[in-house]
Amino acid sequence: MKKAKIFTITSVKGGTGKTTFALNLAATYARGKKKVLVMDLDLAAGDVAARLNLEYEKDIYHCYEDIRNHTFEQVEDYIYPYKEGIDVLAAPKDPRYASKIEPSFLTYLLSKLSLKYDVILLDTNHLLSPLNLVAFDYSDKILYVIQNECMNLRAMRTMSAIFEDMESDKMMIVLNDSINKTSGEYSVTDMKNLLKREIDYRIPQSFFQKKYDKYVMAGTIFLLDKKIRKKSQKAIKVFQLIARSLLKED
Ligand SMILES: Nc1ncnc2c1ncn2[C@@H]1O[C@H](COP(=O)(O)OP(=O)(O)OP(=O)(O)O)[C@@H](O)[C@H]1O
Ligand SMILES: [Mg+2]
Repeated sequence: MKKAKIFTITSVKGGTGKTTFALNLAATYARGKKKVLVMDLDLAAGDVAARLNLEYEKDIYHCYEDIRNHTFEQVEDYIYPYKEGIDVLAAPKDPRYASKIEPSFLTYLLSKLSLKYDVILLDTNHLLSPLNLVAFDYSDKILYVIQNECMNLRAMRTMSAIFEDMESDKMMIVLNDSINKTSGEYSVTDMKNLLKREIDYRIPQSFFQKKYDKYVMAGTIFLLDKKIRKKSQKAIKVFQLIARSLLKED
C-alpha cells in the first residue's frame, strides 16, 4: 500500500517564508508528477487557501466536527484541488475554531490521507504547540525555514539543541535568503558557528519577488508562473534538489 511522505514546514520565528516555501515545494512535487496535499495547520492564521484564491466550503474544522459527530463520510469532502494536481486542506475560516481542534485528531486524519498522496506538506506556525508536536511525530522530516538574522539564528540554535537532546535526526534547516532584497548580515561560516550545525538548504536571494503581493492576490504560486520560472533557474534547481533529497531520490 502507498504511504505518503510527510514533511512539516515550521520555523522558530514568524514570517520567515514558510508558507511561500511550502507552496513552491508543493509546486515542485506537482510538476514532478507527485500527488501532493498541502494541509494548513496554522489553524488560527493560516492563509494557504486565501493565497491560492481557492473557493472552498469545508475546512479542517468541519472535518474535525464531522468525525466527532459521526457524520464524517470521506476525507475527500474537505479537500479542494488547486492547479497541477495540488490539493489543499484549508485552516478554519473562523480563527476562533482553532483552539477547539484536539491535536490527536491529526493522527486519524493523517492515517486516512497518507494512503492517497505521495507527499503531504504540513504548513504550520512557529510555535511548539501540542498540535505542531503531533505533526512533528508523524513527519518524516521537519523543515525549519530561517532567516539570516540574529534572533532567528539564536532561536534556531536552541531548537537544534532540543532535537539533539531527543536524538532526532528529523530536523533540517532551510535558510531563506529570498525574503529580503538585501543580503543578511552573517556569512555562511558565521551562521554555522552560531548554529553549531550545518545549513541543509538555501533558497537563493534571486527568488525574492518584487511584486510578491500582486502574485499572491492573483492566487499564483511563483514556480507555476511561466514568467517567474524563466528568471528563477537557480531557485528551481534548489527546490528540485530539496524535493528529491527529501524523498531520497537523489
Ligand atoms: N520570495 C519572496 N519574495 C518576496 N517577499 C517574500 C518572499 N517570501 C516571503 N516574502 C515576504 O515575507 C512575508 C512572509 O512570508 P510567508 O507568509 O511565506 O511567511 P510565513 O513564515 O508563512 O509567515 P507566518 O509565520 O505568518 O505564517 C510575505 O508576506 C512577504 O512579504
Ligand atoms: Mg505561513
